[in-house]
Order: sequence, then C-alpha cells, then structure tokens
Amino acid sequence: MTESQYAQVAGEFADVVIVGAGPAGLVLGNILLRHGVDCVVLERADRDCVENRARAGFLAPNTVRILERNGIGEGVRRHGREHGVCEFRTEDGRFRLDYRGLGKGEPHTVYPQHELVTDLLARFLDAGGRVRFATEAVAVSGADGPAPTVTVREEDGRPVRWRARYVAACDGRHGVGRRSLPPGAVRHHRDHGVSWLGLLAEAPPSLDAVGYAVHPRGFAGHMARSADVTRYYLQCARGTRAEAWDDDRVWDELDLRMRASAYGPLRRGRIVQRAVVDLESDVLEPLRHGALFLVGDAASLISPSAAKGANLAVLEAELLALALVDALAHDDSAGLDRYSERCLEHIWRAQEFSHWMIRLLHDTPGPGRDSLFQERLRYARITALRDSASQRNWFAEHYTGI
Ligand code: APR
Repeated sequence: MTESQYAQVAGEFADVVIVGAGPAGLVLGNILLRHGVDCVVLERADRDCVENRARAGFLAPNTVRILERNGIGEGVRRHGREHGVCEFRTEDGRFRLDYRGLGKGEPHTVYPQHELVTDLLARFLDAGGRVRFATEAVAVSGADGPAPTVTVREEDGRPVRWRARYVAACDGRHGVGRRSLPPGAVRHHRDHGVSWLGLLAEAPPSLDAVGYAVHPRGFAGHMARSADVTRYYLQCARGTRAEAWDDDRVWDELDLRMRASAYGPLRRGRIVQRAVVDLESDVLEPLRHGALFLVGDAASLISPSAAKGANLAVLEAELLALALVDALAHDDSAGLDRYSERCLEHIWRAQEFSHWMIRLLHDTPGPGRDSLFQERLRYARITALRDSASQRNWFAEHYTGI
C-alpha cells in the first residue's frame, strides 16, 4: 500500500508506530527522526508522569557511546558523574573493588533515568517528533500482513487506529506488545526466589561506592542517585507489604545489615518511595513477529541486581532504529532480519551476569541442606572476588558491559 492509500484509511498513519515513551521508545524515536524516518510515539501516561518516574540511573560505557553518537548524550555528558567503585560488606569485613582500571577499564556513568528520559523527550519534540500522551495502545493487529495496526484509546476514550509499516513495542513487561504475540512465541522465565524492598531516600549517599552488604538477615544495597538522593534495597520475605516498613525500621535494618557499628551509620533522610520487587527474569524469543518488534523491557525483563535493564533498552533501540532506516530508506531489510538474533546475544549475556550477581549476594532459597550448600557456594564466590585479580577483571568487564 502506498502512503496515500494508507492515509485514506480511517485513522492515522506513521511509517513506524512506537508504543511507549521510556528509554527504549525515545532513543528509537530520536534516531529514526534524525535519519528522516516518519514515526510517532504513543504513550499512555501524561508527560509529567513520564518525566518524573524515578527508575535506574547507572549507564554502561556503551550506553553513553550510543547516546553520544546519535546526538542525544548532551545531558549525560554535562551532568553525568563517573562511577567505578563497589564496596562489599560481608561477615569477614569489607573490601573495595575499584573497577575503573579493570576489565576494559571503563567506569559507569551515574545519571538518573528520569533526567535521561526528560532529555530524550525534549530533543524528540524539538526535532518535530510526534508524541501522543495519555494514549493507551489496546491492541496490535495485522503485524504479519502488509498493514499492521495499533488501536489506541485516547484521553477522551475515543478509539483511534494507527496504521503503520512497522510497530515497535517499547511498552515494558505489561504492555500491549507482549499481549499481541502470536501463538508459539516463547517466554523463558525464572523467579529467583528473592524479593527486594526498593527505597528512594532524600538523603545524601553514605558511601562513595555502590554498597553491597551480605548479612545473615539478608542483602542490603546502596546506590547513589544524586548528591542528595540515594537508592537503597533491603532483601525481604516474598509477599512483604512496602508500607509495613516505616522509616525508622528501614534505617535501623539498613544500619544493621550495612554493619554501621563497624563502618559508621548511614546518612538518614525521608524515604520518598517504597516498592517491593520480586527478582525475576524473562526473555521472549523471537523479538520480531512480522512487522512487530519488541524492545527493552517488552523484550526481556532482567533483575535490578546488575543495573542492566535500561542499558539493554538503549542498545536494542539503536539496533532497531538503524535496521528500520535501512529498510525504509534503502530498501534493505537485512538488519531487521537479524534484529532478534543480535539482541538476544546481548540479552542472554546480561541475564547470565545478573543471575551470577543474585547468587553472589543472596542465599537463594533451597530445601534444607541444599540451602547450606548454596550458602557455602555464595561465600566461595564472594571471597574469590575479594582475593583473585582475574576474578575482579572478569567482574569489571561484565559489570560494565552489555
Ligand atoms: N500504551 C502506551 N504506552 C504504554 C503502554 C500501552 N499499552 N504500556 C506501557 N506503556 C508505556 C509506559 O507508560 C512507559 O512509559 O511504555 C513505557 C515503557 O517504559 P519502561 O517501562 O521504562 O521500559 P523501557 O523503555 O523498555 O526501559 C527499560 O527502564 O524502566 C526502566 O530500569 C527499567 O529496565 C527498565 C528500563
């Protein structure tokens, strides 16, 4: 169908319809627009919500390179802060792992994700990009035919059909992209049996490092988000209600597990966000179904143990964007044909490291004596990381890589 035929059909049209204005959708939209490809972003939330959702904030070196080479890294370059030290606190004491000179010798960049999303949105709109906020996609159909359609419900409840040549589901793990897969789509899933109480505190960081504490009462984590906001995690029992932990209980437990008696109390402040997350992973295969492509959390869910999710989303978005440019501007679909295979290679490598991190930091539950066996394995892993230069090099390469 020609563009004019498309346009005559009731509804709206774009060469590429992107569902979701998170890191995946906005990196994809910016790169397409930069190459002159017609696209639209359909986002169910309003702009204020999209720009203020506190999420991750740990950018891998490759992610920074992708943003910079596509002209969308200004904010990261100006406000991002290098970060390259982990501090592990265990029953044997604490040790620091400065990974800036290890592995490929590259640090992370700390830059709050909602600030990255705000930058990407502003750049997309300034370049003339189309975004429809408060517009929820309710179905994707015809992806295996010549005229895929995304049906949306606009703010006034009116249904509108968007016709496209390609549809990019950048709508996360609960989005319409996953609900629109044909029979036979494979979902690999693992529940790691561990839950975290994720906390955001209006408190300056207490360490100059990412803190990982292993304690008989459970894991605790410390990640600076900015000079006056810090992300903490507390391992908790499955089914824990976030509200059950008031501020005092949170800080007392964090102090206990981070061994404040030995290394000094944490810097306290108001807890402004609480959420319990069950650590689980999943990967969909393949990531392409005809004209429908899955990107970011829509493609795979990775546990927050190694801060890989947003980095994978950016990598996949660039891969898809350049493949779509080749297909639409140069009639070359080779990149689209290889999209799924290329992404899955990165996804499974990230999943493997994330899985290793979970077993490094937690006594993953098991029946009876198996649990003791797991605990001894965990102890061997973390002491090997402390004592072995080659293990620390391996850690640095995979911790910062995607
Ligand atoms: N219609 C329109 N928009 C939708 C729909 C829908 N049916 N469902 C979800 N969305 C929107 C959400 O409101 C959100 O803005 O899709 C966007 C998905 O964004 P993310 O969840 O951030 O997913 P992604 O861009 O893949 O980024 C992945 O970012 O959220 C962090 O660390 C997290 O690993 C994750 C990474």
